[in-house]
Amino acid sequence: MKEIDFKGKVAVITGAASGMGLHAARQFARLGARVIMCDINEAALNEAAASVGEAAVPVQGDVRDFNYALSAAEAARSAGGADFLLNFAGGYEARCCNSPVPFYEQPVEVLDWGIDVNLKGPVYFSRAIMPQMVEKGAGVIILLGSVTGFEGDGMGAMYGTAKSGLFNFVKGLAIAGAPHGVRAVCVTPGPVLSRAAMNNMPTLMGRAAELDELVDVILFMCSDNASFITGSNHVVDGGRLCMYQKTYGL
Ligand SMILES: NC(=O)c1ccc[n+]([C@@H]2O[C@H](COP(=O)([O-])OP(=O)(O)OC[C@H]3O[C@@H](n4cnc5c(N)ncnc54)[C@H](O)[C@@H]3O)[C@@H](O)[C@H]2O)c1
Repeated sequence: MKEIDFKGKVAVITGAASGMGLHAARQFARLGARVIMCDINEAALNEAAASVGEAAVPVQGDVRDFNYALSAAEAARSAGGADFLLNFAGGYEARCCNSPVPFYEQPVEVLDWGIDVNLKGPVYFSRAIMPQMVEKGAGVIILLGSVTGFEGDGMGAMYGTAKSGLFNFVKGLAIAGAPHGVRAVCVTPGPVLSRAAMNNMPTLMGRAAELDELVDVILFMCSDNASFITGSNHVVDGGRLCMYQKTYGL
């Protein structure tokens, strides 16, 4: 296994003000990369960027806005051109829009939020950033799926739908990128401790993942150690997707 070294590299990270996105920003900076940190929450983003230090370039905005993705691309170009794009911005609409009701009672704005943040966001950012990777003849795009993309969810129906859309989008990105040395990988978590409440979601291992247990996989996927991995979806869920068999004794 080659040692991971991102010196001189530029990573664009959405959802970088908290959770896995912030943890990834810290790790990419520690490994030598400049990090373009993108998030809608300005106060949290500025605090997060300050905690990452000199390597951080905060760019505030909403991933649902293509012009914002273009501003992030501009910041990446000024830093030398993007080598990595990590799409962490996302969320479960019933929680993020404070609308804990079934799909058939969700306001249409909540449905739009679920699809737009979780699916259009990664599409817009990939569209804006990927040309820099094609120019360089190298790059890696990471999409964040969710086990909900396999399981479905009655209150987060758009969350699950958008995440399963990413399972296909990763293939489109890989096919478009392969002739230019650009890889695309979807990493699909089960519960992760970016929130303590995730410990309540059952897994075969009886716990949620630590942030490192996801971010280390993403570091590996971005490194040359993963040079033959593209267009695929990698589930990191502590056996969550086996729970069906366990529950029904199949
Ligand atoms: N935490 C989990 O258990 C879990 C499980 C499966 C998948 N995931 C996925 O992993 C990713 C990261 O999860 P996390 O728990 O670390 O996230 P988080 O909730 O800690 O952080 C998400 C960040 O995205 C930002 N964001 C939200 N809407 C945005 C918008 N419109 N534009 C720009 N930024 C926006 C938020 O401000 C926040 O800082 C998400 O895509 C999530 O769906 C998480």
